Amino acid sequence: MKRQVVYKRQIKTARRFIFENIMDLDHVCVLHRKWFTHLRTLVRRPDYVEYRLRGWFYGLKQDMRFVGASVDENRYWYEFVGPWVKVRVEGEMEGPDGNLLLTERFTYRFHWLTAPIFWFLGPLFKKQKENILEADSRLLERVYRLDQAGFKRFSEQG
Ligand SMILES: [Fe+2]
Repeated sequence: MKRQVVYKRQIKTARRFIFENIMDLDHVCVLHRKWFTHLRTLVRRPDYVEYRLRGWFYGLKQDMRFVGASVDENRYWYEFVGPWVKVRVEGEMEGPDGNLLLTERFTYRFHWLTAPIFWFLGPLFKKQKENILEADSRLLERVYRLDQAGFKRFSEQG
């Protein structure tokens, strides 16, 4: 069973920070610790990552595999694969750095056994997604503002 949702948002950040965010495994279980814990890295390259983590969805625990990759300078995709649900996200950025229009297409695929439950839980999925996107947006805009102000991040100093 499939369910698709398209999310568009204006975000004041640069492309490179969005790509960094996808490839930055370490932020997932910190910034989104409400939803994800127990990170285990499998592959880590600048343009491709693969890892496992534990997903928490309102008390429902599932071990998930995450894969993410860049497509070109404006596009990326990532996928969460768990026993009950598979989520694929295709992202595309438009506009100048500092004022990007980010479009993310979410495709949820549910196991047929649990599909009715997940269908019923649709509003909770929406809440989870909004919580994650909001946290990432705030981080990305903060990093961009600091960068514009000439702030050097710790990783760039060494
Ligand atoms: Fe994130």
